[in-house]
Order: sequence, then structure tokens, then C-alpha cells
Amino acid sequence: MRFGGLTAVRSVDFTVNSGEIVGLIGPNGAGKTTFFNCLTGLYVPTEGTVAFKGKVIPPKPHLVTQAGIARTFQNIRLFANMTVLENVLVGRHTRTKEGLWSALLRGPGFRKAEKESEAKAMELLEFVGLAAKRDHLARNLPYGEQRKLEIARALASEPGLLLLDEPTAGMNPQETRTTEELVFAIRDKGIAVLVIEHDMRFIFNLCDRVAVLVQGEKLVEGTSDVVQADDRVVAAYLGEPFEGEPGQEEAAEVEAAEAAADATAPAPKTDAAPEPAQADTSPEPEPAQADTTGADDTAPADSGAGGDTGSDGAESTSTTKGEAQ
Ligand SMILES: Nc1ncnc2c1ncn2[C@@H]1O[C@H](COP(=O)(O)OP(=O)(O)O)[C@@H](O)[C@H]1O
Ligand SMILES: [Mg+2]
Repeated sequence: MRFGGLTAVRSVDFTVNSGEIVGLIGPNGAGKTTFFNCLTGLYVPTEGTVAFKGKVIPPKPHLVTQAGIARTFQNIRLFANMTVLENVLVGRHTRTKEGLWSALLRGPGFRKAEKESEAKAMELLEFVGLAAKRDHLARNLPYGEQRKLEIARALASEPGLLLLDEPTAGMNPQETRTTEELVFAIRDKGIAVLVIEHDMRFIFNLCDRVAVLVQGEKLVEGTSDVVQADDRVVAAYLGEPFEGEPGQEEAAEVEAAEAAADATAPAPKTDAAPEPAQADTSPEPEPAQADTTGADDTAPADSGAGGDTGSDGAESTSTTKGEAQ
């Protein structure tokens, strides 16, 4: 996926199988959200395709939802002035058959469908723990509950694959824990989950598999153990020099000199407080979307995406193969 001269995601070939929770991690600006935007048709990838259950999906958000992929957003996008229940009902509309006329005339068919929809929506609110707040306005919910409402709304479209973009950003440890349980419960419903998160404990606890994206490219992919133990991942996150990298010796010398200076000067230093470890989860502005679709309808029909499954699994592959040309 290129934006002018910037290649935000390149040659990322990725599969999620049914019953799996997969993590997508990487420093800020690595291209994680862009990858989601490509998967969900908000961006038309410059190259590559998205396939779900063996079928290539055209890059249009409503077709992606219909095919069975749902998502939440890094920057929460709810209908602030609608109630909690109404927000979930909106999420269901792709799965209801009642047409416009039926809705306008409010005939018996519509009312029956409406009842059913409401029952389903309430089930989902129970599931995420928001049933008691069904009539609250979305904007009055605390941050953590807004994130859960977004999840309920996404589930309302009855997806086979759920994409979560930083679901615990802004949550306290307690809320993070319940979100973890919620994701397990979603998986147990048979829904595959692909989750972007900066909270490493959350990710490594939760995920069967983790992929690391750095500067738009997949650096490592594997089980939590494998990824955690990979030096390159540590380096990508903490900016530690690779072994043998130029500059490392100088850094060691400076450190040694500082240590020596400290030892000879017993006076306590009034140094600044330790820098907070990075992992900046402040919501960066979500790139403008939606209306950019359709601008470029000539999505390259790259066959061969998907590859390795014939299973009934929820599978999604976005390939930006083939390199820029
Ligand atoms: N619509 C856009 N137009 C131009 N550049 C974009 C757009 N969306 C994302 N980018 C750029 O792509 C890169 C990856 O961004 P993003 O996918 O948001 O990263 P992440 O979610 O990993 O933090 C960044 O350099 C960002 O500025
Ligand atoms: Mg992001």
C-alpha cells in the first residue's frame, strides 16, 4: 500500500485460520492500521488482494462486512448520540433482510424483524457486559465501555473474522483483563480474531501466533515464545543496537565513562526522572478514509493469494506482493 512516495505496507502475506487469535504488533507508524484498512476495503491496496474463506473480496467496506469480516477502530467510532442498543442495531443492518419500504411502512414483517434484531443485540450486550446500559447514550459511557460497545457492534454483523485495532488502549489493568477474557470468549464462539495491540503482556497471553510489522514489512511471525525471544523484535521496539552495529562500541565507552564519573562523584545527581518507556498509545489521527475507496477501482487481480487452505476456516490474506513497479 503506497501513499505517494511512502510505502506503508509492503509484501505482507498473512493468513488467519479459524479458531485462532493472532496478534499484529510493531512500533507506531509500522503500518498496522493501514493493513487493517486494506483488509476492510477502506483503502484500495496498490497491489495485492484480500481473500476470505478462499474467495477474493473486492475492496469495498460493505462487501467486506457482508463477506464476514468486522472490525473496531483505533480511534473509537461510535454514533455518539445514539443509545448503546441503537449502536449495536446499526451493526446488524447488513444481516437483516427487511428492505427500505418495509422499514418505512413499519409493517408486520418489519416489526418482527425488529424484535428479533433487538433480541440479538441484547444478547451481544449481555455478552460484552453492557446490557444494563442499553439506553445510555454512547457518548456518556466511559472509555473502556465504549471500546466494548464497538466490539458488540462489530459482532452484530456476525463475522467469521474480527479485527481489533488497539482494543485496550486507554483501559486500566482491570478493564484490560476483562477484554482479554472477552477475546477468548469470542474465539470460543468460533470467530477468528486478529488483534493489534501495544500491550505486550496482553498480546503474548492471548495470541496463538504473533506477527511483527516494522516499517511496513513483516519482520517475524511465530508463536508468542518464538517472537518474544527474537532479538530483532526487541531491537525494533526498544531501538537497541544490533550486535556488531557501528556505534555500539562508542555507546559502551560512554556508558563506562559515565559509570566511572558516577563512582568518583558521590554527590547524588539531580537527573531527570526516568523516561517513560515508549509504547505510545495516544490515539494518532486516523487517516481519512471511506471516500477514498472507489477512487481507484482497478484493483490488481493478483491471483494466488490465500494459498494454503482449503479448510472451512476463516481465512484472510492480504498480499501486497510483486513489489512496486
Ligand atoms: N491515508 C494516508 N495517507 C498518507 N499516509 C498515510 C495514510 N495512512 C497511513 N499513512 C502513513 O502510513 C504509515 C503507517 O501508518 P499506520 O498504519 O497508522 O501505522 P500503525 O497503525 O502501525 O501505527 C505512517 O507513516 C502513516 O503516516
Ligand atoms: Mg495504528
